Amino acid sequence: MTGPSTLISTRRPAHHPHRTSQHSTALNKIAREDWPAVHAWARLPEACRHQPWGPNTEAQTQDFVDSAVKAWSDTPPSAASPTSPTSDGRRWAWANCMSAATSSAKQRQGEISYIVHPRLWGQGIGTEIARQLLAHGFGELGLHRIHATCDPRNLSSSRILSKIGMTQEDRVRHTALLHDGRRDSMIFSSLEGEWHPTA
Ligand SMILES: CC(C)(COP(=O)(O)OP(=O)(O)OC[C@H]1O[C@@H](n2cnc3c(N)ncnc32)[C@H](O)[C@@H]1OP(=O)(O)O)[C@@H](O)C(=O)NCCC(=O)NCCS
Repeated sequence: MTGPSTLISTRRPAHHPHRTSQHSTALNKIAREDWPAVHAWARLPEACRHQPWGPNTEAQTQDFVDSAVKAWSDTPPSAASPTSPTSDGRRWAWANCMSAATSSAKQRQGEISYIVHPRLWGQGIGTEIARQLLAHGFGELGLHRIHATCDPRNLSSSRILSKIGMTQEDRVRHTALLHDGRRDSMIFSSLEGEWHPTA
């Protein structure tokens, strides 16, 4: 990644665990008080199994959220995300995702990434979030190319990236050091013109 990051949290109320994603998944600007919701998954080994970080301590999650909030203050207003959801005071069970999108106005390159709380896996939320991130990147940020990286063993994520119409480009060797050794990354991308608002 080059340039400032845009970070977005996606939240879903805990008291509707069986609703399908189209009911309530929405991207929202992350706030400092979201850290317990982020920590609800960032402390779990299964949520960060394919990541070079975690499981997090509370302090690590607070630092992470602080950086995310700061990144938002660095971005232009046009990168700001839609409205905030209503809080029901049960943030610990919400799904969250981060989008890291932006670089220079000329290059218009971006990256998406996402994490869903494990208690909500398998309900279509990850797919819906990824779709919304592409819409945000192409529609609101006006990016030309958006890419995503994925551990080749992460079959649910590679399925999501294919389902939302991204093209698998390549496999890059030893991009990250995890607890169980170095891992490769699959690269997926979409270009403006390939993406349609209804996709
Ligand atoms: C990856 C992740 C976001 C998926 O979230 P999710 O809400 O469970 O995803 P969805 O329910 O929208 O869809 C998952 C898809 O993967 C498929 N899938 C799940 N496990 C699979 C497996 N072992 N093999 C093949 N496909 C699998 C599902 O069947 C579904 O596809 P379908 O709709 O065609 O049936 C979630 O597992 C997660 O947060 N993981 C940890 C963080 C992470 O890996 N993030 C991605 C970094 S690249």
